[in-house]
Amino acid sequence: NWTMDGFIDEQIANIRAQVGDRKVLLGLSGGVDSSVVGVLLHRAIGDQLTSIFVDHGLLRKNEAQQVMEMLGGKFGLNIIKVDAQDRFLGKLAGVTDPEQKRKIIGNEFIQVFNDEATKLNGIDFLAQGTLYTDVIESGTDTAQTIKSHHNVGGLPEDMQFQLIEPLNTLFKDEVRELGEKLGMPHEMVWRQPFPGPGLGIRIMGDITEDKLKIVRDSDWILRDEIAKAGLEGDVWQYFTILTNVRSVGVMGDYRTYDHTVAIRAITSVDGMTADFARLPWELLQKISSRIVNEVDHVNRIVYDITAKPPATVEWE
Ligand code: XMP
Repeated sequence: NWTMDGFIDEQIANIRAQVGDRKVLLGLSGGVDSSVVGVLLHRAIGDQLTSIFVDHGLLRKNEAQQVMEMLGGKFGLNIIKVDAQDRFLGKLAGVTDPEQKRKIIGNEFIQVFNDEATKLNGIDFLAQGTLYTDVIESGTDTAQTIKSHHNVGGLPEDMQFQLIEPLNTLFKDEVRELGEKLGMPHEMVWRQPFPGPGLGIRIMGDITEDKLKIVRDSDWILRDEIAKAGLEGDVWQYFTILTNVRSVGVMGDYRTYDHTVAIRAITSVDGMTADFARLPWELLQKISSRIVNEVDHVNRIVYDITAKPPATVEWE
């Protein structure tokens, strides 16, 4: 019968057998999945693992720093941090189509990887935190493709690595359990999922630095208030979206014509289906007034009350 301890032993044996004395490269996003893969691989093969953390400029506030401190500092992973903001934002300039954004981000990601791998010499494997749900939703020739999740689809044809995907039979809750068994801290393991394309798919329309600042600052306020309310464990995922809609407002004696920010907060067990979280009105009111007061160029907040299906979790 299946146990998590048995799974860990089996995966470690598999990884060691597959890798031998060769080298593995891992793309660390800072999310639960790639972090768990990193810690699992580090346990299996130690210094044969090199992790690359690409800061694509689409991360949340303070995220890069936290990843480096926890995984590099505490867990001792060998992490190369690549500051690629300009590269990504340059490629994304003026691009509005959601799938095109994902493709650009995914392709750029792989190119940054190939560049680093070339510098490193002799990398044979690429490890990824692909989950069972990613495999299903991204589709095979027998299943319908819903979204091209960048960590499964969109790899260039000339990719020179073999893939290692130790989580691809697991659901999210099992990955969290695995992380805890591996000794990872609670807040890291229970961290909400964050998509590979990051804030890039939470800005409707084209991505600019100004818009990134709005979505980053409003997201930070939302997370701060959910934490203060002690609801982090009750909500599966929560974030803000820059809707690309402007509306009329009034601030003091002035008419404003500014951005509308949407709040998405959902409950779910595996991300496959979801319902909107019944956050307390008082909490929503506090978040709303903080965002309009503290984030420039936002004058309206709306709450997304749609389930998945028919909506998806992300807006793009
Ligand atoms: P959707 O929007 O498809 O989201 O209902 C389901 C879960 O997947 C995350 N998500 C992504 N993760 N690359 C990722 O790595 C992506 O392109 C992507 N799109 C959505 C989403 O945040 C949610 O947890």
